[in-house]
Amino acid sequence: MRSFASAALLAATTALAQDSQDFSNRGNFGSPFPNTTYNEYVNDNPVVAAGSNGHQMSPPKYPSPWTEGLGDWKEAYDQAREFVGQLTLEEKVNLTTGTGWQVDRCVGQTGSIPRLGFRAMCLQDSPLGIRYADLVSAFASGVNLAATWDRGLAFAQGAGMGSEHKGKGVDFQLGPVAGPLGRTPEGGRNWEGFSPDPVLTGQLFAQTIRGIQSQNVMTNLKHYIAYEQEHFRQVPEANGFGYNITEPSSSNLDDVTMHELYLWPFADGIRAGAASVMCSYNQINGSQACQNSYTLNYLLKGELGFQGPVITDWLGGHSGVSSVHAGLDMLMPGDSDSYNNGYSYFGSNLTIAVLNGTVPAWRVDDMAMRIMAAYYKVDADTNRTDINFSSWTKDTYNYEHYYVGQGWTKVNDHVNVRADHGALIRHIGSASTVLLKNVNNTLPLSGKEPLTTVFGEDAGPSPHGPNGCDDHGCDDGTLAMGWGSGTADFPYLVTPDTAIQNTVLQNGGSYESIFDNYDLDTIGALARRSNASIVFANSDAGETFIQVDGNLGDRNNLTFWQGADDMVATVAGNCSNTILVVHSVGPVLLEEYKNNPNITAILWAGLPGQESGNSIADILYGRVNPGAKLPWTIGKKREDWGTDILYNDNDDAGVPQINYKEGNIIDYRAFDLHNKTPTYEFGFGLSYTTFEYSDLKVENLNASAYVPFMGHTTAAPTFRNFSMDPADHTFPANFTRVNLYHYPWLNSTNLTEASGDPNYGSSDFFPEGALNGSAQPVPKAGGAPGGNPSIYDVLYRVHATIQNTGSVVGDEVPQLYLSRGGPYDPVKELRGFERLSIAPNMTARVSFDITRRDIASWSTVEQDWYVQNTTKHVWVGSSSRNLPLSGVLA
Ligand SMILES: *[C@@H]1O[C@H](CO)[C@@H](O)[C@H](O)[C@H]1NC(C)=O
Ligand SMILES: *[C@@H]1O[C@H](CO)[C@@H](O)[C@H](O)[C@H]1NC(C)=O
Ligand SMILES: *[C@@H]1O[C@H](CO)[C@@H](O)[C@H](O)[C@H]1NC(C)=O
Ligand SMILES: *[C@@H]1O[C@H](CO)[C@@H](O)[C@H](O)[C@H]1NC(C)=O
Ligand SMILES: *[C@@H]1O[C@H](CO)[C@@H](O)[C@H](O)[C@H]1NC(C)=O
Ligand SMILES: *[C@@H]1O[C@H](CO)[C@@H](O)[C@H](O)[C@H]1NC(C)=O
Ligand SMILES: *[C@@H]1O[C@H](CO)[C@@H](O)[C@H](O)[C@H]1NC(C)=O
Ligand SMILES: *[C@@H]1O[C@H](CO)[C@@H](O)[C@H](O)[C@H]1NC(C)=O
Ligand SMILES: *[C@@H]1O[C@H](CO)[C@@H](O)[C@H](O)[C@H]1NC(C)=O
Repeated sequence: MRSFASAALLAATTALAQDSQDFSNRGNFGSPFPNTTYNEYVNDNPVVAAGSNGHQMSPPKYPSPWTEGLGDWKEAYDQAREFVGQLTLEEKVNLTTGTGWQVDRCVGQTGSIPRLGFRAMCLQDSPLGIRYADLVSAFASGVNLAATWDRGLAFAQGAGMGSEHKGKGVDFQLGPVAGPLGRTPEGGRNWEGFSPDPVLTGQLFAQTIRGIQSQNVMTNLKHYIAYEQEHFRQVPEANGFGYNITEPSSSNLDDVTMHELYLWPFADGIRAGAASVMCSYNQINGSQACQNSYTLNYLLKGELGFQGPVITDWLGGHSGVSSVHAGLDMLMPGDSDSYNNGYSYFGSNLTIAVLNGTVPAWRVDDMAMRIMAAYYKVDADTNRTDINFSSWTKDTYNYEHYYVGQGWTKVNDHVNVRADHGALIRHIGSASTVLLKNVNNTLPLSGKEPLTTVFGEDAGPSPHGPNGCDDHGCDDGTLAMGWGSGTADFPYLVTPDTAIQNTVLQNGGSYESIFDNYDLDTIGALARRSNASIVFANSDAGETFIQVDGNLGDRNNLTFWQGADDMVATVAGNCSNTILVVHSVGPVLLEEYKNNPNITAILWAGLPGQESGNSIADILYGRVNPGAKLPWTIGKKREDWGTDILYNDNDDAGVPQINYKEGNIIDYRAFDLHNKTPTYEFGFGLSYTTFEYSDLKVENLNASAYVPFMGHTTAAPTFRNFSMDPADHTFPANFTRVNLYHYPWLNSTNLTEASGDPNYGSSDFFPEGALNGSAQPVPKAGGAPGGNPSIYDVLYRVHATIQNTGSVVGDEVPQLYLSRGGPYDPVKELRGFERLSIAPNMTARVSFDITRRDIASWSTVEQDWYVQNTTKHVWVGSSSRNLPLSGVLA
């Protein structure tokens, strides 16, 4: 019953069985929060959220909502309507289907519409630049943007990345990332995204989206949703590592946690106008993310009013017809369940499904409309250039259709798109470096130290060069990005060794460095005569398709790699002025270093990108005053987070069950609730100056009352202009095919034969309501992109004053936290932040807008936001545990 037959409708049956099977009857998605569950919640463990149990259900929700040009999508909708209205069925299908893995130039490419001179759409990784291309920039990782707490820098990096994609002919940049959010610090891809806090992530995510799309490039919000670990995300991959799983893992979470935590930043992204969304590899409550009608039809397209297309992660699709009904709009890279097998769930199968009536014409129209509306939403037709690079080779000449060796031609024009982005990257690198410890103003260094020494493999170059390992799948040399598909080639990589040496030499000092972490005798001897010993240590992570040192994407531990702990201990044992610099994908355990008196300063520099060395030297020598803050908690030990990766299959049927028992209590919320003292708390970061907080005022803006959305959609529009006769949909005469390509045409006038599916038409099991194109009710929390506009009304404005009490100009990030006051709510939650630059002795006034959503809670019964009748406290300060100002929202 659980096996996934490759046949589309068999897959449909399986998926729907999962959709409708209720294993637990305990606080599932969308169902009322039963009070039995509440009792369990309270008695068992105060942080066990209802609905986080294994084998629960994801209720069926059909039909799939059609785009109507809601909100600021109206003009794009009208333009798309004009375009799609001219298309034949095959042309529409071409827009929805990738041509196949490595058969065209981009990592994903749709079909084209030659009749209208519309070239294929190019989809390209990654969230930090362009993967698989030359003469591009390697920007800072998402985790570094998060550490800046700076919306302007998120926009600037988005615009920089967008312009590079534009210049290479990319239509969709596959990013930014808000899933993983960061449920566990070990999560392999957390660094591609921002922070485990939904507000910090949501706001920087939205600004990155605006930045990318300002350059006429479509974004693709990844990975939707509850994709919080690498282990067990895909069956063949896990099988390859020796895990006998039968389906991807299921992330099991309740409706409140979904809304108040994981869905939150996606709502911000969609409200910011994001063009497309990528469904993830995992299952959510027992149903595959790319055919989960609850998360796609109901939450994303219904409640969040998303108007663009849902695109699969690569091989993340598991069926044709049933996925289409569940809300999937584009299959990438077009192949069915393995690369280059020549078959697709879409392509000709989608044409067939329309002809045999299992997919209504309005639905395929909607798929094409969503894709073209996204295109016009960002004005992608402005200055659209040809695709001028190949992902599969850096050579100038090679095959256009690389994998199948057809079409020898010039595939790389080597267009240099880097502009002056190096300066921005250097700036973001220093603006994201967090100063954690600085005893007696050890930093900044003067540059006049007679002997400066640098230690650690992480300070120098990789012997393989900066791009020597495929997809950066190794941890050699200084770490400036993680590994996997979320990467780009470095145009150069400035090492800390180079940049620090440059500064020392300019000041006439002596300089020595040792990169071999294991040469402890030489290290100790050098450290003993050093005036300032700067030690570099790292911790890496990435995507599961590569394992590094036994780490299958997710980290196995939160300690340093490459034997760095012994190296740091050796330096600190011999030099009483040891400065520790950490390049890491996330939290590492630092308690021992914090307490070591010889370690006089600690900096977290994250994954800063190509200018890494310059960025850290700017901080070390005070050319830039650090102003970054931790975007997560650094705990004393791994257990203190209360969440961890599921490293072993826990299910008899081979469907790993990841139960989000902690509900919305992750990261600092867990440390707060369980009274755990962290080494360095969420939001913490020092400066070379000092700040004082005063004068908190709460202003009530007397906003009007909440208005639940009450409307209906229109009936599904359709622009069908094609015949239902299979003979009109076969390959054109004399058409030359590219091998393994997915085309929209039929091989045969016999649909069964054309499909080639041994189980063709074998099941008439069909989701109830899937074909219903009549007007549909809209969720109360819906009505516009991002959800009901009324939840974004500003109810309060909180003001505070910050003074620079030191002697140098510096950046401070005042943070606002609030308590919603309910018995199951977090002790406090971040709801506002602002990065300010303040001159010595000057003061700045900051104000935070508190929206209705900020103080609301999700009602599973009403399926809407509501404000609890509780006292709501607010605090303002410099970190989650240093909050000198407080007030009450009244
Ligand atoms: C259509 O889909 C079925 C089920 O996955 C598959 O067996 C078949 O090969 C596909 N046909 C084409 C032409 O891709
Ligand atoms: C659950 O709550 C409802 C409504 O508040 C109440 O009528 C019912 O008795 C409760 N059931 C249990 C088992 O506590
Ligand atoms: C679909 O796209 C392919 C690849 O770009 C192209 O060869 C073909 O002509 C397109 N079909 C239609 C109907 O436009
Ligand atoms: C199109 O590109 C040219 C050359 O790069 C530029 O000068 C022009 O401003 C661009 N037009 C728009 C509308 O962006
Ligand atoms: C900091 O400096 C003061 C004054 O020079 C000195 O007394 C103190 O021991 C120093 N603290 C540390 C931890 O080095
Ligand atoms: C943690 O993992 C890294 C990378 O695999 C490894 O080098 C290191 O030895 C591990 N640390 C411990 C304490 O096992
Ligand atoms: C600190 O460094 C000095 C050398 O400067 C060394 O003698 C001492 O043992 C070190 N202390 C610790 C705790 O490692
Ligand atoms: C893998 O698991 C499945 C289902 O639990 C079981 O039927 C099969 O025998 C297992 N295969 C191996 C090689 O252990
Ligand atoms: C309709 O076509 C689809 C795609 O080939 C196929 O999966 C499905 O079995 C067909 N259904 C019927 C009832 O013919």
